Amino acid sequence: MSKLLGALDQGTTSTRFIVMRSHGGIIAQAQREHRQIYPRPGWVEHDAAEIWRNAQAVIEAALAEANVSARDLSAVGVTNQRETTVLWDAATGAPLHHAIVWMDTRTQAAVDRIAAQGLGDLARAKTGLPLASYFSALKLGWLLDEVPGARDKAAQGAALFGTIDSWIIWNLTGGPGGGRHLIDATNASRTQLMNLETLNWDEELLRIFDIPAACLPKICSSSEVYGECVGALAGVPLAGALGDQHAALLGQACVNVGDAKNTYGTGCFLLMNVGETPRISTKGLLTTLAYQLGDAKPCYALEGSIAIAGALVQWLRDNLGIIKESREIEALARSVPDNGDVYFVPAFSGLFAPRWRGDARGIIAGLTRFSNKGHIARAALEAAAFQTREVLAAMIADAGVEISALKVDGGMAGSDLLMQFQADLINAPVVRPSQLELTAVGAAYAAGLAVGVYKSLDDIAAHTRQSRRFTPHMPPQERARLIASWEKAVERSLGWAM
Ligand code: G3P
Repeated sequence: MSKLLGALDQGTTSTRFIVMRSHGGIIAQAQREHRQIYPRPGWVEHDAAEIWRNAQAVIEAALAEANVSARDLSAVGVTNQRETTVLWDAATGAPLHHAIVWMDTRTQAAVDRIAAQGLGDLARAKTGLPLASYFSALKLGWLLDEVPGARDKAAQGAALFGTIDSWIIWNLTGGPGGGRHLIDATNASRTQLMNLETLNWDEELLRIFDIPAACLPKICSSSEVYGECVGALAGVPLAGALGDQHAALLGQACVNVGDAKNTYGTGCFLLMNVGETPRISTKGLLTTLAYQLGDAKPCYALEGSIAIAGALVQWLRDNLGIIKESREIEALARSVPDNGDVYFVPAFSGLFAPRWRGDARGIIAGLTRFSNKGHIARAALEAAAFQTREVLAAMIADAGVEISALKVDGGMAGSDLLMQFQADLINAPVVRPSQLELTAVGAAYAAGLAVGVYKSLDDIAAHTRQSRRFTPHMPPQERARLIASWEKAVERSLGWAM
């Protein structure tokens, strides 16, 4: 019999709660955007208190829309923007500072300092991650150093560190006095403080990054009962938590070795399941935990992270004002027959995989008097596809497997123009499911698995549905020409921020 599950998806730009049937189908959802705070070039912050208020509001709104109450839900899961770093007061629940968002580049100087000590290989071997401003350890170090009194409080356990899952879980389970201070292993794998083999905090890394263990949450699996919720979800078991990209991997049922998905959200994240042994990349990809479901053996993934995809559409909306709503991008891009030889490299936070160039900055190349906003819109959409192609090529070379088709999801995957261009560029089919928001669905799956709503991963896989397949038809010479021009533009974006 179908049961009801809930999931909170706390993303980079918005927070969403869904109510879904265990046999498939979201029956209600509510979503709210939060403020993006840009104190300086390259800095990006969120107000964690605002995020928590939004979480409560969307939970209440979605339950009301579904016309159900908390006791109708068998379990809830949480999924979240990863790496974003929160430090809060254990007694009051107040954040000590704005959260530092994953794409924030303020720690680049610290990255260079640690790299100059020759510690990059050690960090990568232990965590699967290169030294980069992307991950949480250096963001937490910045908060401990810059917020007056923070380091002392953290050393006494009076200030608590968490990624956004920890922050939400602590609040959902009671906050000050009662909240459970936890982090799921997928999120912990993005801090650069967890040893990927043992799935424990690594003492040597804590020393290198100068992080007091007393402020760290307990690492848990992605699917187990963490506690009971209070508030609008009172009494519901909180039973699943994964970083959003890991949740999407589960939502797409990429549970076999070689299964891959690409999620087009704020950024774009391509993950491939590589099974029970972590595989360290030689091509600039990350090794990450795919998921650890209860007592089962952990499963690992290779990841190609692209910092800016949908965020570029938002930038066109908010900073340039050439569209009023994000969904207008497709029509604007279709107002021209092609990109008119315009290329947009959105290296706003440097370039992530596979290049890891903190010194790159955004560039629009190829402008002529002929170019118009349609070409810029088209170049912005195409940027996600060009970056994905590069990451996919690295992944195929790294994993030594071909991809028969690329599974896609996330808001931008709704663009037929982009998906067709993506299939053309990678010269392989792109498969889009009927449900694009698989991140929240994946978190609900993890929660359902923990409380026995699902018996196994096969049980989950039976519920995924594909809706459309885009097959490539671009002539090879055209593909080669586009890729060569894109690469020329990327070369010009490198080294801008010295
Ligand atoms: O690593 C950052 C990632 O988790 C952000 O995801 O969906 O907010 O683009 P999203």
